[in-house]
Amino acid sequence: MRGECVTPQPISKLSMADADRIRTDIGELDRVLGGGMVPGSAVLIGGDPGIGKSTLLLQAMGKFAQAGRRVLYVTGEESMRQIRLRGERLGALSDNLLIYSETSVEKIIEAVEKIKPEAMVIDSVQTVCTMRLESSPGSVSQVREASAELIGCAKRHEIPVFLVGHVTKDGAIAGPKVLEHMVDTVLYFEGERGHVFRILRAVKNRFGSVMEIGVFEMKESGLSEVHNPSEIFLAERPVGASGSAVVSSLEGTRTILVEMQSLVCPTLFGVPRRTVAGVDYNKVVLLAAVLEKKASMALANHDIFIKVAGGIKLDEPAIDLGILASITSNFLDRPIEPSTVIFGEVGLAGEVRAINQVEPRVKEAQKLGFKRCILPKDNLKGLKKTGDIRLEGVSMIKEAIDKFFE
Ligand code: TYD
Ligand code: MG
Repeated sequence: MRGECVTPQPISKLSMADADRIRTDIGELDRVLGGGMVPGSAVLIGGDPGIGKSTLLLQAMGKFAQAGRRVLYVTGEESMRQIRLRGERLGALSDNLLIYSETSVEKIIEAVEKIKPEAMVIDSVQTVCTMRLESSPGSVSQVREASAELIGCAKRHEIPVFLVGHVTKDGAIAGPKVLEHMVDTVLYFEGERGHVFRILRAVKNRFGSVMEIGVFEMKESGLSEVHNPSEIFLAERPVGASGSAVVSSLEGTRTILVEMQSLVCPTLFGVPRRTVAGVDYNKVVLLAAVLEKKASMALANHDIFIKVAGGIKLDEPAIDLGILASITSNFLDRPIEPSTVIFGEVGLAGEVRAINQVEPRVKEAQKLGFKRCILPKDNLKGLKKTGDIRLEGVSMIKEAIDKFFE
């Protein structure tokens, strides 16, 4: 891996062979990693407590161990008994999966040298500490130093290491920001409390795309992969209800269709509220202002509640038109024809702007039996028409609003 060339080399002479990927056999995890684990790489996984970080890693490492590879799973948080019970539930038992309840970096490195595992997990970086520093575990300097030593150890032994990181109240990985620079890949495990869906998202990846997401469902027997997220996210859609609109969001190499729901009601007193779950608050405020000004909708004296069904978070310009459709539909109390998918970016002048990757979005809609797409007119150019889906291009929101309720 690194250090293979000690003198500067011409770029044209560098080897193009992809570093050997090691698959975990959990397809959704492998995809988010960019095709599997890379030997010598460090992966940081952050997420709220109880979201399922330990579950995911124990499950992945259990499979890896069952395939005959030796794994070292270091836990500084849970008792051996807890891990054993969880391992049993997850079907992750294997003689090759070695659990080590230890927080001293020196002892962990010693164990790696003795055991020579083919992968390693540190659960979590906030619990480990190195003797070289006097500060307590979890402090900024300890997390940085201890992680640096463990990452160095993984690189020397050319094994992948997963570091579990706690997150702070505002959702960032606790400890030094530099931790994110030290690792090759940063993944976040997200999901709403009370929802069974979990999204694994890459926010940094030296070995793959950062747009990629993995979708899981938390079950009695652990996390199960969701191969067709659109179907799941649309499963409970109230067909024919006003305020419900299906949007298309591109997540890495996959397009997913998701239901957006709005509730718009008169403000009883004071400032109108905008309560938002799953999309950016400011985006909703902006779209409401565009509707007010460009489509003469009196939203300034209405509360707006918006939610993405299924607890997934969306962050893409292409969902603008769908959010707008959902608000309009509930405000006018007119349902959108249920076999319609809506996508497009909305500008401040009320124009509907072209978005990227239209073809996969149309294909996904078609696959799931949708009959009509409302999309930016500029995207129609050069778009190959396939099958019997109706593509209706719009260039201004007023025109789009007429189409929503046709
Ligand atoms: P955990 O992996 O301990 O979370 P983290 O390491 O991110 O803090 O997640 C535990 C949660 O998942 C816990 O609330 C129970 C639930 N769970 C299941 O629903 N099914 C299972 O098979 C397991 C192991 C956990
Ligand atoms: Mg845990």
